[in-house]
Parts: sequence; structure tokens; C-alpha cells
Amino acid sequence: MGRLAGKIAIVTGAASGLGRACATRFAQEGARVVIADVQDDLGEAVAEELGGLYVHTDVSVPEEVEKMIRFTVDSCERIDILMNNAGVDGEGGITGESSIDNWKRVMSINIDGVYYGMKYVLPVMIEQRAGVILNTASTVGCNAIPGLPAYTASKAGVIQLSKTTAIEYADKHIRVNAICPAVVDTPLVRALIEASPDSEAVRRGFEMMNPMPGMVTTDAVASAALFLVSDEAAFITAVALPIDGGYTAR
Ligand SMILES: NC(=O)c1ccc[n+]([C@@H]2O[C@H](COP(=O)([O-])OP(=O)(O)OC[C@H]3O[C@@H](n4cnc5c(N)ncnc54)[C@H](O)[C@@H]3O)[C@@H](O)[C@H]2O)c1
Repeated sequence: MGRLAGKIAIVTGAASGLGRACATRFAQEGARVVIADVQDDLGEAVAEELGGLYVHTDVSVPEEVEKMIRFTVDSCERIDILMNNAGVDGEGGITGESSIDNWKRVMSINIDGVYYGMKYVLPVMIEQRAGVILNTASTVGCNAIPGLPAYTASKAGVIQLSKTTAIEYADKHIRVNAICPAVVDTPLVRALIEASPDSEAVRRGFEMMNPMPGMVTTDAVASAALFLVSDEAAFITAVALPIDGGYTAR
């Protein structure tokens, strides 16, 4: 018996990266996973590999998020876990020089998307008298970094929104937490390193940015996510858990 045996778990942005790693771990622990993404071919392949379901969902569109929740209830009868993970970092550029289009796009996916997910799943979880929500924030939601104003603001918003909702729904036996990974060794980050003119220096920079040497792994993030969505964390809510080798403690 796995730690999530019999649970139904939706993971948004699970066609790749952290979402995929978390969905894989949830499935290995016995959950039936619903993969929600905009990359249909990749998402369908992940769902098939994990014996789960795929539903096309652009999290920035409220009607699509509502449809994702309805699809899951119709197919699986309940929703035990919702991981609002889909996110984009957007274009680089300091506040005065970044575009309004970029601001709106990052906010619509990273913060509006998390709000829509919670708004539409909460009635289901209230009726079930149980449920767990896990939102993917970032260390940049705690410690500001220059050059990604929309991304950092959106992730700070995810942390406060998660805590607010956690307090509001605690008496309904619904837990809401956030995870705050530092830079994670994903294919996307690896590609970014390879694309830079001095890739060795960039890699070393990422590996030395946390007090613990080395980059955060997708495995480490999946393990933390698994703990927070499992019954082992039954009394843990309103937490924003850094997975950062000590980065945010400085
Ligand atoms: N990789 C890191 O270093 C890191 C660190 C901290 C936090 N995060 C956060 O982790 C989450 C996942 O990032 P990742 O690194 O795995 O990136 P990724 O690009 O590999 O995965 C993101 C997934 O989200 C999907 N997505 C994008 N826009 C969407 C939308 N509108 N609707 C539905 N799905 C959409 C993409 O198709 C993709 O499958 C994001 O919220 C990101 O901000 C990543």
C-alpha cells in the first residue's frame, strides 16, 4: 500500500518538470493522477505512462479550470489532492523596463491560475469534508531577486493566498500549503545553462547559490510535496516550505 493509496490527485503543469516529477511520485504511491496542462501531446503521454487521465487546461482561463474540476469529479467521483503547480517565469527585465504584456501573462498563470484552482475545488472538498491543496511558489516569493518582478510578485502572492485560504478553510478539514523550491535541476534549467555563453560559470553559480552545495533536485521537491499532501502531514496547514538548502535563511 502506497502513502497515497486510493487518492485522486490533480497536478497542473504536469506535462514536464516539477509537476511531472510530483505526479509521478504521487502515482508511485498509489494515487490516480489527473494531468492538466496546455501541452497536450506531452501531457497525454505522461498520463498514459502513469495510468492516469489527461485534461487540457489553461489555468489562466477560469472556465477551463472549472472544467478540469468537473471532469475529475465526473471521472473519479472525488478530488483528494489539488496541486496548483503550472507556472512561468516570463521575460527578464527590471521593473521600469519590463512589458505590461509580460506582467499580465505571468500574473494570469501564476497567481490567477492558483486562485481559480482553489475557488473551483473548494466546494468539492467542503462536500467531501476533506481535501489537500498544494501550491507551487518559489524562494523568490520570500527573497526578492532583481530582473523578474512579475515572477517574484506572483510567487509572493501564491504564499499569502495559500496561507489565507488555509486559515479560512481549516475548520472544514481542508489543508492548504505551498512549496518554495530554489532553482531546481530540471531540463529547462539545464537548457538555460547550456544556452549561456559561459555555461560552466552559470552552472557553478546555481550550484553554489544555496548554503548546501549542489542544485535542488526534482526528487527532493517530489518528496517534500508527497509529505505535504499525505496524511503524515495531517496537522500541517498554512505552511510555505522552502526546499532550498538553506537559501531563504540568509
Ligand atoms: N524549475 C525551477 O527551478 C523552479 C523553482 C521554483 C519554483 N518553480 C515553479 O515550479 C513550477 C513548475 O516549473 P518547472 O520548472 O517544472 O517548469 P516547466 O516549464 O518544466 O513546467 C511548467 C509546466 O506548466 C505548463 N504550463 C505553462 N503555462 C500553463 C498554463 N497556462 N496552463 C496550464 N499549464 C501551463 C507547461 O506546459 C509545463 O508543462 C512553476 O510554478 C515554477 O514557477 C520552478
